Amino acid sequence: MVSTRSAEIGMPINAASFHTDVVRGRPNGHIFNTITNGIRTMPAYSAQIPAEDRWAIVAYVRALELSQNAPANVAAGDGKGEPGAQASSSSAAPR
Ligand code: HEM
Repeated sequence: MVSTRSAEIGMPINAASFHTDVVRGRPNGHIFNTITNGIRTMPAYSAQIPAEDRWAIVAYVRALELSQNAPANVAAGDGKGEPGAQASSSSAAPR
């Protein structure tokens, strides 16, 4: 459907992938602004989505990005790659 419309008007209108260096490099506020006001060919969603939900979507987009592009040590779950990770929680945990 999208590609048919795209051919009709003679320009690409496919949604952007979240998994590109460009979109991964966007600040959170840019993603929020994109949902709020739209960008280029993407329409605005502020009328349908409350601001709090828009921020929740930004967090979800970040989680999706990480799920497809996690550093090897984070993906392996060794707890050493993330800020706030509890690498030595076993010795500190109450028994
Ligand atoms: C809340 C859901 C959505 C989110 C979080 C979202 C987010 C984004 C982001 C982050 C980009 C990349 C913008 C950039 O270059 O920084 C993008 C692009 C785009 N989105 Fe969405 N989007 C959403 C819903 C939609 C929907 C429903 C449509 C279709 C009706 C759509 C159509 C597009 C298109 C066509 C682009 C490419 C814009 C261009 O480069 O011309 N988006 N979107």
